[in-house]
Amino acid sequence: MSEDLSAIEVRPITGSIGAEIGGVDISQKLSAAAIGKIRQALLDHLVIFLRDQEISPAQQLAFVSRFGEPDIYPFVKGLEDYPQITPILKLPEETVNFGGIWHSDTVYQPRPPMATVLYAKQLPPTGGDTLFANQYQAYEGLSASFRRILDDLTAVNSAAKGSAAQTRSDRVADAGTGLAAGVMEAEHPVVRTHPETGRKALYVNTGHTVRFKGMTEAESAPILDFLYRHQIQPEFCCRFAWRPGSMAFWDNRCAQHYPVNDYHGHTRLLHRVTLKGDKPY
Ligand code: SIN
Repeated sequence: MSEDLSAIEVRPITGSIGAEIGGVDISQKLSAAAIGKIRQALLDHLVIFLRDQEISPAQQLAFVSRFGEPDIYPFVKGLEDYPQITPILKLPEETVNFGGIWHSDTVYQPRPPMATVLYAKQLPPTGGDTLFANQYQAYEGLSASFRRILDDLTAVNSAAKGSAAQTRSDRVADAGTGLAAGVMEAEHPVVRTHPETGRKALYVNTGHTVRFKGMTEAESAPILDFLYRHQIQPEFCCRFAWRPGSMAFWDNRCAQHYPVNDYHGHTRLLHRVTLKGDKPY
């Protein structure tokens, strides 16, 4: 179909990361040129946001499939008719929020997802925002000497790391797939090169990274703890306030995210799809 590409507006929301995309109705089949413009905005801004989209699960899948192949989340069952859509849910009586720690998605897999698309269904009256952090800038913000050391290191990432594993506990209890977290572990470069932009990004995260390959956890901890603090500093971050019908689409290869858990007593429900990625190098 044809549409006016100039109607698609890309408005950065910080000097570092994140842009709102206006002038797009994703319930419609977009042209290849429109998809290309949105993909370029994702590459340029690492996370893009769309507002006021009224879409069904089938329409969410149709839209995201234009950018890659939807994946299946290993630990929690998807919607009955759409197994690629994982409900990200926190109920009023719960205190733990799913994924409530800084991370990039499922880095414990050999080929972690390239991107994640989250669509807001039900939100608390206030709160429940999501933060995103630019990992190109995190890498580039280190000294050249320290970058050279990191360039040669490999990280061991595990789904069983306690801090992240406990953020899945409520959903695994009511909709778990039965897979044990201990079976998922993957080694990836500490600094990965983005396959599309060619830029280097820091690729450790406090949710999943347990140590450097060839070192003990105790030996790795001082440097990892420094990197976990460094990589989320406010200058690298943006904060997105959801409204029903909002969508966030982020690039897991160069961005991390953190859902803020400040809405106890209320329901928050979003529909999540991840897109298959390649082996980090
Ligand atoms: C996630 O880690 O995918 C959840 C993000 C959110 O709930 O905002």
